[in-house]
Parts: sequence; C-alpha cells; structure tokens
Amino acid sequence: MAYEATWHANLKVRLRRLRLSKNMRRLVRETDLTSDDFIYPLFVRHGAGIKLPVESLPGKHQLSVDNLAAEVREISALGIPAVILFGIPEHKDWCGTDNFAEDGIVPRAIRAIKETDPDLLVISDMCFCQYTDHGHCGIINIPDNPHYDPALPPGYLHNDHTLDLLQQASLTHAGAGADIIAPSGMIDGAVAAIRSTLDSDGAQHVAVMSYIKYASAFYGPFRDAAESAPQFGDRSQYQMDPANQRQAFKEISLDIEEGADIIMIKPALPNLDVLSRLRENHSVPAAAYQVSGEYAMIHAAAQRGWIDLERVALESLTCIKRAGADMIISYFAKDALKWLGA
Ligand code: PBG
Repeated sequence: MAYEATWHANLKVRLRRLRLSKNMRRLVRETDLTSDDFIYPLFVRHGAGIKLPVESLPGKHQLSVDNLAAEVREISALGIPAVILFGIPEHKDWCGTDNFAEDGIVPRAIRAIKETDPDLLVISDMCFCQYTDHGHCGIINIPDNPHYDPALPPGYLHNDHTLDLLQQASLTHAGAGADIIAPSGMIDGAVAAIRSTLDSDGAQHVAVMSYIKYASAFYGPFRDAAESAPQFGDRSQYQMDPANQRQAFKEISLDIEEGADIIMIKPALPNLDVLSRLRENHSVPAAAYQVSGEYAMIHAAAQRGWIDLERVALESLTCIKRAGADMIISYFAKDALKWLGA
C-alpha cells in the first residue's frame, strides 16, 4: 500500500540515502586512512638482544639496535613511510651527552635502520629529557653545572645554552642519516638554530618538523617507555598551557618563519581545534601525534571490555585525519594498517 502523502513525503533532502548501504557509504566517504598517513614511533636502547615490553604501552617495546632490522622490515612491508626515534641512553648526565655523541643510541639506530632500508624515512625526536640526569629538556640552572647563573631562577631551563646542544645533536643525527629533525622541547628559537647549523654544515637537505607541544598529562606512559620523567618540577615552564590556542598560533607562525618544513600538533585528539585551524590558515604540511596516553587509554578501556579496541582506534585516527592531519604519528600505525587489510 502506498505511503499516505503527508508533509514528510515532500522531503527533498534525505541525507540517509547516502548512508543506506556499505557500498554507498564507501562511495561518499571523505576520509580514508592509508599507509601514506603514518609515522611509527620506535624506542631504542643500548645493548644486544633486547626487546623489553613497556607495561603502560601494550604491545610496544624498547629495542636494542640489533633487533631493529626485523622491526624495520615489518614496518616497510606495511608501506609505512617513516619512523620517529626515541633513544634511551646508558648514562644520563647534566647535558645529555649521549644525544650528540657519534656512538649515541640514536645515531647508532639511524645507521642500522638505513642499512636495512635506506628508503624508510627516519625522524629523530630532538630533545634532551631522556638524556639528562634531571629529566628536563635542556640545561637546567642548578648550582653544580658549569652554566649556573645565580641571577636566574633556580631550576630555570637555560634557553640559549640548550640551543647550542640542540645544534650539536642535530648535526650528529643528520650526519648519521636522519631525514627529518623534530625539535620537541619548545625551546625558543630551536627551529632557527637547527636550520642554520644544518645549512652551514652541508645538511640543507634535512627537513625540520617542529612540535607544537602542550604541557600535557597524556605523556605519562611515554615517560615510562623513554625513562624520561623529570626528577623535579614539571615541563610547564617551556611546554604550552593546554588552555591556550592563540599562543599555539604564535608558535606556529614563528616556527614557519624560522624555517620549519612541517608543523606537528601534540597531543592529537585533545587539540583538534588547533590542528584544523593550522590546516585552514597555513600551507605547511600538518602532522598530529596521537600520544602515549591516548593509546594507553584506548587499550585500558578495551581490556576491560568497555570499548572496542579496533573501532575506537580507527575512529580516532580517522577523525585526526579529517581534522587536517597530513600525517599521524601513532603507536597504532602497524595495527591500524593490519586492521584495514593493507
Ligand atoms: C620528548 C618527548 C615526549 C613525547 C615525545 N617527545 C615527552 C615529553 O614531552 O614529556 C611524548 C610522546 C608520547 O606521549 O607518546 N620531549
């Protein structure tokens, strides 16, 4: 029997037509995740035969350099274009020597990765928190170090001395074969300092990806994985207050002026507003970092049976891309591509 004509029968716009079947939804889908979108984080440490599980990052490990080849082959086979490296040094000291030493953990890892697959892009996270004995991202104003200045507040992060170290470490990592240097400490002038030293030292081909980083509690599990928790205070004297958006755009403009090739927003899901405005207002490629806490929360809730791991992970990644990410750093990268049947 024909449906009795009422005013509804005259509805011309029925958006549900486009949602009716799986194939119709496929046809009109605006955002698809592919292997092109991902950057996979790796934690590397000195030693041999090490594959140490990180408790707060289910399925993630600290790897020794000899275990990288197998990992790299798996990553490349999935079509992932890039990895980002986090090193755990054997010895920490006041100025983070392992980060700029030729035989430091990251330079060694870069060489091993490039030996296995020269085409896999290597991004080196450029920060000092894993390497310093106090766990802060640079030189700290404390009486027992050579840069101590009683006129500055105790515990103050010496911005400009830290720039010198960032330059040295960037040159070492570039020399070992890094394709992208990613300053992550929110140190003023870091992009300009790194760009100028790379350019004057024959590494003009190496790109800079600058972090726009909030002082976030979502980094908790990473600090277990990278053994980088600050020994006193927190990082809010240099990382941004999550309450601020205008400040993020001041940082973004400065970083672009200083020569950043790619801007990365971090953490991803809590800062999609910043990501989408970055995409609208600037032409640089935008990266988003789905950080350790975002990954761990999804796993923890899924373990309790409260959410579906695969669906929540893929939904989060899709929405990060929809908001404007050209690339996503994610601990889910390998799993996501397996789930998507890549
Ligand atoms: C180093 C660095 C951190 C992360 C990436 N680079 C830790 C921090 O700022 O404390 C966090 C990444 C994550 O949580 O997955 N500065």
